[in-house]
Amino acid sequence: FDYNLLTGLHVVVTAGPTREAIDPVRYITNQSSGKMGYAIAEAAAEAGARVTLISGPVNLPTPTRVKRIDVVRAEDMYNASMAVVDEGCDVFIATAAVADYRPSVTAEHKIKKSTEEIHLTLVKNPDIVAAVSAHAKRPFTVGFAAETRDVVAYAQAKLDNKKLDMIATNDVSGENVGFNSDNNALTVIWPGGHKVLPLAAKRQIAKQLIELIAIRHKRD
Ligand code: C5P
Repeated sequence: FDYNLLTGLHVVVTAGPTREAIDPVRYITNQSSGKMGYAIAEAAAEAGARVTLISGPVNLPTPTRVKRIDVVRAEDMYNASMAVVDEGCDVFIATAAVADYRPSVTAEHKIKKSTEEIHLTLVKNPDIVAAVSAHAKRPFTVGFAAETRDVVAYAQAKLDNKKLDMIATNDVSGENVGFNSDNNALTVIWPGGHKVLPLAAKRQIAKQLIELIAIRHKRD
């Protein structure tokens, strides 16, 4: 591993889940532990980059030499991401499992138990990585795709639709990979090529991904 791969570059990583409040005590979220994103932020810092980690609520220590910005809602993550991209960054890696939808309203007070059925209306959250790749000061943009089936086909479609430079895909249906696990296996796809990173510790996978990003970023 080359400890100067990303020297002089500003790398931004989003990580973890987002949390969308229903009322002051309840929320919608997902299974993301943040481990993959934190490992990537750590690997980028080890490769010499200046790293900003925009993190949803997780239970993980901040990696050394990484600047961490804590957010809760997808909209907060969007605003924090736009602010760093406005300032200018070189690489943006979106590992966060952003909630696709949020409650249309957050109740001011705890919702009381009443009728047999109540209905929650959800509205779409902004797509952060798509907004980053469409930005005038567009960094090299990397997305993630966690899928339980047709992993590569969905990822290829996301690479195209969100106009990404690279997408890392993982199958989260297995027991030893993906969410909460300390291990992961990725298929990394870019326009015109791909590479399989077989099952390994997330820290190892993160270093291999950083190497691929450094190579592709240099070519562009
Ligand atoms: O469309 P989907 O959520 O499957 O795409 C996953 C990729 O898009 C991940 O890189 C994720 O961080 C990013 N994403 C985002 N903002 C959203 C939804 C997903 O940045 N609102």
